[in-house]
Amino acid sequence: MLDYGDYPTSRPRRRRTCDAIRSIVSEHQLASQDLILPLFVQEGHNTESTVNTLPGVCRYSIDLAVIKAKEAYDLGIKAVALFPVVEAKYKSDDASHAYDSDNLMCRTLRAFKEEIPEILTICDVALDPYTLSGHDGLTDHSGNVLNDPTVEVLLKQSLALADAGCDVIAPSDMMDGRIGAIRNALDDKGHQEVAILSYAVKYASSFYGPFRDAVGSANNLKKASKSTYQMDFHNSTEALEEVAHDIKQGADMVMVKPAGCYLDIIHLVRQHTSFPIFAYQVSGEYAAIKSADSLGWGDSSKLLYESMIALKRAGANAIITYGAIELAKKMKESQ
Ligand code: PBG
Repeated sequence: MLDYGDYPTSRPRRRRTCDAIRSIVSEHQLASQDLILPLFVQEGHNTESTVNTLPGVCRYSIDLAVIKAKEAYDLGIKAVALFPVVEAKYKSDDASHAYDSDNLMCRTLRAFKEEIPEILTICDVALDPYTLSGHDGLTDHSGNVLNDPTVEVLLKQSLALADAGCDVIAPSDMMDGRIGAIRNALDDKGHQEVAILSYAVKYASSFYGPFRDAVGSANNLKKASKSTYQMDFHNSTEALEEVAHDIKQGADMVMVKPAGCYLDIIHLVRQHTSFPIFAYQVSGEYAAIKSADSLGWGDSSKLLYESMIALKRAGANAIITYGAIELAKKMKESQ
């Protein structure tokens, strides 16, 4: 420990006397380019639907998603994370619609490349929107989630997305060995420039509820748990093993998810790698923060901002949050 002065010579409050001095000595900042906007895309034209469990968040048809992305980009947000709302008729046991080059996600990517090529597109790679079970992978007769056969489908899904113009493939399924397999498949097909953001540290969390409502997988998954593939939240050091595997296999960036209850994990990963760390403030965390307004105990806009700074303090480089536009607007106003 450094030798600090003592009271009354030392008075830490002197550095908190006014806004100017507080901002000069402030250690962590949020910028709009740290933020990534998640977007739920649905079929149709000029339509949007609200998600009851996610205050202020809508599902958009492709054309409206493009407009939302333009709004985000104009506010300094450089990336969107795209999630499809897949119609029931496209769900199957083999999840083959995941790699149909005309599926909703591929059409969305082509529209984004056409209309707003400057924004970075990040696409979830996992089978949960496409399986009847609602699981992120293929299942056997007893309902066990199969690792290696799932990876084979993830490869096809990744290639379909890359062919449609995806900039960043983001495997969120937590199957073992998928990062290396996806990197090889992309490179084999000439997609060396497509980056991989690995959801390396993804916990089996109860904070994903509103997301599953938004994409409509809750009805398929019912009461089933993802705990045979997503991480056990009783564990922390295991996160380092997951990150090491994924970096060794070719990940360009790693994600920790959820974010707010997992600041220790972000900090731990930060201490062990110089790789960019993305934190995902997931749907349940965001909904909890937003509920402060209706419950009348706090200002959700301030709570949201504070939660972002906590993630930056812990060591996150970028943050996926449903509040990205709100935060970026607020930062623009305060400039
Ligand atoms: C799908 C996926 C999930 C989230 C992102 N990708 C849900 C899950 O794993 O069940 C959650 C995001 C959120 O809650 O905001 N693999």
